[in-house]
Amino acid sequence: MSDLKKIRDEFISKLKGKLNLSEINQIKSELFGKNGLVSSQFKKIGTIVESERKKFATDLNVIKDELQDLINSKIDEVENAEINKKLDKEKIDITLPERPFVRGKIHPVSQTIDEISSIFSEIGFSVEEGPDVENEYNNFTALNTPDDHPARDMHDTFYLDEKKQKLLRTHTSPVQIRTMLKDKPPFKIIAPGRTYRSDSDQTHAPMFHQVEGLHIDKNINMGHLKGCLNYLIKEFFEVDKIKMRFRPSHFPFTEPSAEVDIGYEMKNGKIIIGEGNQWLEILGCGMVHPNVLKNVKVDPTKFQGYAFGIGIDRLAMLKYGINDLRAFFDCDYRWLSHFGFDPLDVPTNYRGLSR
Ligand code: PHE
Repeated sequence: MSDLKKIRDEFISKLKGKLNLSEINQIKSELFGKNGLVSSQFKKIGTIVESERKKFATDLNVIKDELQDLINSKIDEVENAEINKKLDKEKIDITLPERPFVRGKIHPVSQTIDEISSIFSEIGFSVEEGPDVENEYNNFTALNTPDDHPARDMHDTFYLDEKKQKLLRTHTSPVQIRTMLKDKPPFKIIAPGRTYRSDSDQTHAPMFHQVEGLHIDKNINMGHLKGCLNYLIKEFFEVDKIKMRFRPSHFPFTEPSAEVDIGYEMKNGKIIIGEGNQWLEILGCGMVHPNVLKNVKVDPTKFQGYAFGIGIDRLAMLKYGINDLRAFFDCDYRWLSHFGFDPLDVPTNYRGLSR
């Protein structure tokens, strides 16, 4: 019997036995390792007389393939057996009675964002998002905010590097830039999210929430802005009448700019929205500055529109009678189970936003 056939027969019978993974690997290296039996046969090819060389090489390759296939299928077999054994052990007994569990609640800020998104989706706005860590360009420069503008001050902005290139966004307005850079007009979007300013007292938290709005098209004017905000506030507070006033203001990225107050009244210690002579500021807005449009390659002689930025936390406090802003971020489970919302009650305009 030739050497080859001997090797073949010996190892085929070995591989037929019951083996574990390390035994198989041992066999594998005995055959195919650097000085393995099969490998050394290959080295022999050159020394064989020419008349027999071809047959030898062919036989060797056939045997090599046969043994390799056998080893591979043996490995599969052992691995599968191991997985099955593991799965068998991990079976879950679903006949056990359920344990009582506490159901989580939706945070009032998340609820408010969902409500606002639903309200705007009814009038054709889609939702965009941007990162909390922004670059200086999107947060300031592209928004026409000059180098010496007070908003850039270290006291207000959390910078993340010495060169002041990266920062925690101080408003959601950079999402205007991101949106306009990646698409072509018209734009009709809102962008809710977290924003950061170095500020902390009873009515200010270093992290707070805004929703940005942006509507750019041909012939959009301030009347559209007013109509849109009027609709938002009425829907959000679920009232028919709303008192709203626009106060002239200044933002580098809008011209003209305004701040919007809504009228309210205190009755028996409760706040009534839309009546009375008290005013509460809830948002900043204006017509997008031509320089901003130029920065994002939109032609301001063809397209224009409005933008606004609403403080979400304050709206949530007003609507849900929460009087301390800090409670939002305390993670007190008792507070959340009182003020939180049922996760299965998704706010929609037609079914009611909050029940
Ligand atoms: N970004 C402004 C702020 O945070 C709000 C704003 C947004 C004003 C869009 C005008 C237009 O105060």
